[in-house]
Amino acid sequence: MPQSGLPDVSIPRRLSAPAPGWTTTADVIVVGSGIAGLTTALRLRRRVDRVLLVTKTVLDEGSTAWAQGGIAAVMSPEDSPAEHIHDTLVAGVGLCDVDAVHALVTEGTDAVWDLIALGADFDRGDTGKISLTREGGHHRDRILHAGGDATGREISRALIAALDRVRDDPGIEVIEHALVVDLLTDADERVCGVTLHVIGEGQVDGVGAAHARAVVLATGGLGQIYASTTNPSVATGDGMAAALRAGAVLADLEFVQFHPTVLWLGEGSRGQQPLISEAVRGEGAFLVDEAGERFMQGQHPLADLAPRDVVARTIITRMRETGTDHVYLDCRHLGAEFLEHRFPSIVSRCRELGFDPATQLLPVAPAQHYASGGVRTDLRGRSSLEGLYACGETSCTGVHGANRLASNSLLEGLVFGRRIADDLTARLGVGELPEATPAAATGEPELVGSKRRLDIQRAMTAGAGTVRSATSLAATEQALGALAELAAAEDADQQGGPQSWETTNLLHLGRALAYAAALREETRGGHVREDFPSRDDEHFLHHVHLRRSGAGVLTAEVVPVPRSNLEGLDLDGSMPVDVLDEDRADSEGAVGASPAVRHTNSVDGPEETA
Ligand code: SIN
Repeated sequence: MPQSGLPDVSIPRRLSAPAPGWTTTADVIVVGSGIAGLTTALRLRRRVDRVLLVTKTVLDEGSTAWAQGGIAAVMSPEDSPAEHIHDTLVAGVGLCDVDAVHALVTEGTDAVWDLIALGADFDRGDTGKISLTREGGHHRDRILHAGGDATGREISRALIAALDRVRDDPGIEVIEHALVVDLLTDADERVCGVTLHVIGEGQVDGVGAAHARAVVLATGGLGQIYASTTNPSVATGDGMAAALRAGAVLADLEFVQFHPTVLWLGEGSRGQQPLISEAVRGEGAFLVDEAGERFMQGQHPLADLAPRDVVARTIITRMRETGTDHVYLDCRHLGAEFLEHRFPSIVSRCRELGFDPATQLLPVAPAQHYASGGVRTDLRGRSSLEGLYACGETSCTGVHGANRLASNSLLEGLVFGRRIADDLTARLGVGELPEATPAAATGEPELVGSKRRLDIQRAMTAGAGTVRSATSLAATEQALGALAELAAAEDADQQGGPQSWETTNLLHLGRALAYAAALREETRGGHVREDFPSRDDEHFLHHVHLRRSGAGVLTAEVVPVPRSNLEGLDLDGSMPVDVLDEDRADSEGAVGASPAVRHTNSVDGPEETA
């Protein structure tokens, strides 16, 4: 790997926090209540004696509930696992773990049927069959959706309803308003619990310690590391940052997905921005520039429905060429009636903000949307640290490679949540992962005041955002390093609080992300380098694994990917696509009007997860 002469980046072992004032114990602690955390916790319940589910705010506050477009799965006889696998591998630009993708797709269909059996109500056509649509990078209609464009909200509702049905079960405890601060490890660096801060109304309040035989991190993504993102305010990378500080391997951090069509609300708009789902393009909307020209045509056979990284890159290029900071999405031909029925939430949010998709062009620009990398796991969800698992956006299972295929993320949480629960059930059942005593906290803690959050977001957006270079990344690291030094002086006596812990998590992950991005001197997937504008399979067909060394600095390891990963993949989009001109209206999956009938033959009973 070409070396970039990067300066050392120090990462402390822990955040400054008061000593734990209370203690609780469980077999497994699941951190996070999106699709990944809830699936894991619900499946573990009754299989192990005590599951503790903790979540930072309230159960339905995370990214899952914000997912619009849907969940991808092979549901139609016209589709096949091989095709979904192929589309996923192409979107991942050669860096997917093929076995992980195979597991995702082949187990995904049954997992979705289980979710339906649990109560998730997906949209159906007139005949009662599940409606399937298409998004970028998919060559088949395989996206299930709910409430038109409120798929995540419905999945979240169904999973929380399932949890509510078992709330009285002593085998599962839920603590809301609980921010995990750090991971506890024993003398052998085995993870054996967490420190967490609870804004309690009952027995637990303030900072405490939860001890367990295993911890599952499902805290979602890190979108708030950037000035504008589609992620909710809770997406501050808490789980990833705690894992990094504890010495776990994080992989593929440089691959950040910028969603092409985020409503552009003007320069200076910060925080969570309104997403215009890719499904809108799946139903026929298209991008135009200031002059009204359709610029995606001729760029890729899938045109406006090319993989997300291709569309985002083309928009950025067009914005630069035309000296603008946004392009437009044209949905007008779809008509008010269709748009209001199919995308009720998007239409109403746009109208609230003064844009009518039925009559006006929508200004859009790319904004941060998804972290394709995260805590590196194997196919069972195990991280590099014994006792630590990661799931969903927090993890890097290898299914996304350099760029996640649209609507594969909810599926990943579902499939790998089940895998983790099954692995933990088996291991705890045979006495693996015995209880352990946390070692005393070591090293100097670090804390950045919450007033520094905007500085971090600005530095990340300017230098490690949609387009990067060696110079911009060095400037980002310099700014973040200066903030870390300043913080040490400013906040030496502080003990922290939720805002400053989150801000420090953003700082630690930002430094790691910029470090990984500087090492990858090529353009691939979500990682765009203006100083290395081409893909370079010769030197960069590999993953970058980052971890904190015992000495407290980031170390990088290059993990090669077999060249066979590229075989049979049309990574440049030169293959003719004969399905493009088909009628783009939602198709009804030929999966039978009654999922219950189909379900009987294909999946575990719903009581497995209920
Ligand atoms: C979208 O609806 O465009 C987002 C779906 C996804 O991120 O998978």
